[in-house]
Formats: sequence, structure tokens, C-alpha cells
Amino acid sequence: MRKKILICGAGGFIGGHLVSKFIKNKDLEIVCADIKPKEYWFQIFEEAENHSLDLKDYNNTLKVTKSVNHIFNLACNMGGMGFIENNKAECMLSVLINTNLLRAAVENKCDKYLFSSSACVYNGSKQNETFIPGLKETDAYPAEPEDGYGWEKLFSERMCRHFTEDFGLETRVVRFHNIYGPVGTFDGGREKAPAALCRKIIKAKSQNSEIIDVWGDGEQTRSFLYIDDCLDGMLKVFNSNSSEVFNIGSEEQVSINQMIDIIQDIAKHKVNKNYQLDKPKGVRGRSSDNSYVTKKIGWKAENSLKEGLTKTYKWISQQLDSGTNIDKFCKSNIE
Ligand code: NAD
Ligand code: GDD
Repeated sequence: MRKKILICGAGGFIGGHLVSKFIKNKDLEIVCADIKPKEYWFQIFEEAENHSLDLKDYNNTLKVTKSVNHIFNLACNMGGMGFIENNKAECMLSVLINTNLLRAAVENKCDKYLFSSSACVYNGSKQNETFIPGLKETDAYPAEPEDGYGWEKLFSERMCRHFTEDFGLETRVVRFHNIYGPVGTFDGGREKAPAALCRKIIKAKSQNSEIIDVWGDGEQTRSFLYIDDCLDGMLKVFNSNSSEVFNIGSEEQVSINQMIDIIQDIAKHKVNKNYQLDKPKGVRGRSSDNSYVTKKIGWKAENSLKEGLTKTYKWISQQLDSGTNIDKFCKSNIE
């Protein structure tokens, strides 16, 4: 019998890439769900069963989980710092997606469930310096996560653990650290730094301008993980025997200024930075420590930031050049 896989948030960035990978495997039956109207899904495949519906609603979660074996929950109302800092209640409402999907998974006797958590669960006081040691999975406690979005993720991680302990549902939890790559949002308010800065440099180059706006002083650090590595890590964790929580991130910690240097080299266009100190900045420094996930699961990131940004820059350039059908990557279409 073919395994039936449900991908929640299939119209988004990571969900779309996951469907694209799974759809080639004829042994799998793919069910996709996302709140956006289908014309706004970043990727859509007619071979899959596609549902446009709100997964905060329990009846909808019951409908799409029927006779499903495996669930990947990548659905969440989220974005980069510009979105999560200004929409804390909206971010917290995604707790309903995870809650109702877990309940429906138990009700419909699904056998495995993955929750996509975030580096935003980590204790803020461990991220006050620019260059910090990578965050280990244990650094999420004592709890002091990112307000709004981070609390929702930490609570939902915890709920997965207790659904495993109390109801026997096999759960997997991954903490993604700033994932980037082609076929994701790059404008409109939800975009993250890699896509935003690629877009700004592409536009500066095409307008013969040498100035770009940068949020903060550019000294804040992050590590960015390329989408192919993200999928590889997520699937290795999913296929493992462990219900523990794992980092899926990069250990290549860079400041925003250093990332801009890399993008300038790719663009072959030098820019000056207009630092906007009043814009959302988030934590001062963040990076992933992958020693535990490498030891337990055997996963590590393969793509360098330069390699990943080269592919991302090229894809965003093509979208801006063609100008057709780019609204879905530049506007928020979540009701
Ligand atoms: P995304 O915004 O591109 O995709 C999320 C999708 O969920 C969107 O298409 C959205 O329409 C859908 N969605 C939102 N509310 C919904 C609802 N009520 N019902 C059904 N669908 C709904 O985001 P992404 O980058 O693909 O992220 C996927 C998951 O990974 C999310 O849980 C996110 O929090 C997590 N994550 C992502 C990153 C990252 O850097 N991309 C980092 C940490 C965690
Ligand atoms: N988005 C954005 N756009 N960020 C910018 C820009 C810009 O034009 N210029 C500078 N930055 C800075 C931000 O101020 C922040 O300090 C840093 O780049 C990273 O911003 P984001 O990429 O937006 O988010 P983040 O890394 O703080 O958090 C993201 O990653 C988490 C997981 O690691 C968010 O997407 C979270 O939702 C996600 O969970």
C-alpha cells in the first residue's frame, strides 16, 4: 500500500520544496494543505491532492488527516523579524494549527508527526553578544524565548512531547535556523534578511544606485541554512528513531555586514549601507551548534553561505526581471 503523506503549509517556502521532492516518488500519495488561495501557493503540483483551508479549524484538520500515515506540519503564520516583531498575537494563534493537527492525528490514528520549530525558542539572554557560541538544544531552558512567535514554538514543541508520552503518537521536532533559498518570499513584509538583502542589491544595481537600507547596525550575527540542507536534515530526523528536539541550522555565523559583502561579490556591485537603527533587529547574535544532531542523526550542512546565496540571488534576479506572477512572493495572502 502507498504511504499517504500530509504536508501542511504546502503553499509556503519549505512546504513547497518538500512537496516538490516527494512528488517524484510514486510510492507516496501526497496531500497538501495551506490557507492561501491556490494561485498564491509558491509551488503546486496537480499530482497531489491540494486543499486550500484553515488548519486552525479542528474540522479541517480532521478532514485532511483522514487515512494519512505521516504528517509534516510546516504551516505557521510567520515571517522574518519585520513580521514576527509586529504580529505577536497572530504568531501565537498558530498554536491552534499544531494543537488541532495533533488532536486530529490521534483521532485518525496517524503514525508519525513532524513539527517545525525555530531557533526563536532559545533563551534571549544567551544571544546578547554579536559572536556567540552556537546554541545547543539544551539552551532553550530556562525558558526566555522570542516574545510571541518563540513562545508559541516552545509551547508547541512541548505539546508534541506530551502527545508522544500520553497518547503514543510518534513525534519529531526540528528547530530551523533562518532557512533561505529560491522560491520563497523576497518582499512585502515577511521576507528574511538573505532574500531582502539580495533584492535590495539587485534593485540598487539595476537603478545604478549605491545605497541600500540595512536594519540595525549590521554587526548583529546569524547563521543561515540553505533549503536543500534543511530538507535533508528534516528528513533524516523524521526517519530517525528519536523524538528529541534537534537543531537544523548552519554553524557558519556571519554578521549582516559580512553577508552583504558576500552578496555584493555575487552581484559584482558595491553598495553603501544606510543603517536604520529603529527597524526590527531581534537578538544580537545567533548561531547553531550541530554537534548533537550530527552525533545522533548523522546530519550536517553541506552548502556554504556563498553557494546558497549565489543560487538565491540568481532566482530573485530572474523573478524581478520577468516581472510576471511575482505577487505571490511579494504580498501576504493569508486571510
Ligand atoms: P512560509 O510562510 O513560507 O510557509 C508557511 C505556510 O503556512 C504559508 O504558506 C501559509 O499560508 C501557511 N499557513 C499559515 N497559516 C495557516 C493556517 N491557519 N492554515 C493552513 N496553512 C497556514 O514559511 P516557511 O519558511 O516555509 O516555514 C515553514 C515552517 O518552518 C513554519 O512552521 C516556520 O515557523 C518554520 N520555520 C521557518 C524558518 C525559516 O527561516 N524559513 C525558520 C524557523 C522555523
Ligand atoms: N528581514 C530583514 N530585512 N532583516 C534585515 C534587513 C532587511 O532588510 N536588514 C537587516 N536585517 C537584520 C534584522 O534586523 C535582523 O537583525 C537580521 O537581519 C535577521 O533578520 P531576519 O532574517 O528577518 O530574522 P531572524 O534571523 O532574526 O529570525 C528569523 O529566523 C528565525 C529562525 O532562525 C525569523 O524568520 C524567525 O521567524 C525564524 O524563526
